[in-house]
Amino acid sequence: MDADAPTQTEPRPLILDVDTGIDDMIALLIAATSPEINLRGVTCVAGNVEIHHVARNTGKILRMVGRGDVPVSIGAARPLERRLRTAPDTHGPTGTGYVELRGEDRQLGTTEYTAIPASRYLGAHVSRHPGEVTVLALGPLTNLASAVISGVDLAAGTREVIWMGGTLEERGNTTETGEWNACVDPEAVESCLAAGALHRMFPLDATQDIVFSMDDLRALPDTHLAGIVRDAVRFYVGFHQKADGIDGAYLHDPVVLIGSLLRPDLVTETVTETLACDTSSDAHLAGSLYRAESDDRPSTSVATAIDPEGMKSELIARLGRAVGAPNS
Ligand code: BDR
Ligand code: CA
Repeated sequence: MDADAPTQTEPRPLILDVDTGIDDMIALLIAATSPEINLRGVTCVAGNVEIHHVARNTGKILRMVGRGDVPVSIGAARPLERRLRTAPDTHGPTGTGYVELRGEDRQLGTTEYTAIPASRYLGAHVSRHPGEVTVLALGPLTNLASAVISGVDLAAGTREVIWMGGTLEERGNTTETGEWNACVDPEAVESCLAAGALHRMFPLDATQDIVFSMDDLRALPDTHLAGIVRDAVRFYVGFHQKADGIDGAYLHDPVVLIGSLLRPDLVTETVTETLACDTSSDAHLAGSLYRAESDDRPSTSVATAIDPEGMKSELIARLGRAVGAPNS
């Protein structure tokens, strides 16, 4: 080998767990088209919308960028113990804002969903390729917790498990102290934290450092797929204007994908915390994170700040490439 040749790092094997979802959609588009990532599979969980919408949106989005080869596994239709709550006001009636990815498109073909449910799918990867795969969870943790409860050692059997969820100091987006992914399935968060199955977390403290406006999306190319993304994000911006009084939207999930795996240099502050999740029946408290008192609980690395300008330009550039292919 030429000693001066640049060393090529192998694309990182990744399973994405999603509840697609407007910002999940953008994370999927970027993950499926980034050369640094080897997207081994996508597991679906109910959250932003019901599981059938999540599965359909996920399959369609992958096929739109020519990634019908990525296995899609359908997972939990409801949280471990609680009634499912969805967020049509935030993500639209089917999860993609003003866009509805219904109907069949012959050019796209059909998704072959794996017959293996998500928690088993995760377990199969861990036992076949111990220590190899990274799991990035962008929704409620029901699939991951189900795997943990059925004996899958996500903590030791993966390269890393990363989660978008929770909040430390930032005001919650679901309750005063609770973030959506945590509030949908608090028992799942607590199971994962107790098992040490979350190596890294990106709470609202990090993801809400960057506000994306419709103006930012003007940089996207003029393609059909870019139009779909704009129409979806326009709905998300409308929600954020009303809920948060900002002229834009927080794109939590792709920010976490980029901050954790593609441009970790953009994370400007990280703390180590030993956390637990409130699972009480008090709706104001359930889903809130707090510092655990027991010493035997594993700690988690928590990103708490991100370089906003760097993240914005990286995300828009990658999204532009994802939606810019001639047939998109
Ligand atoms: C998280 O909740 C969902 O609505 C988003 O997709 C994101 O994963 C933000 O709180
Ligand atoms: Ca999500």
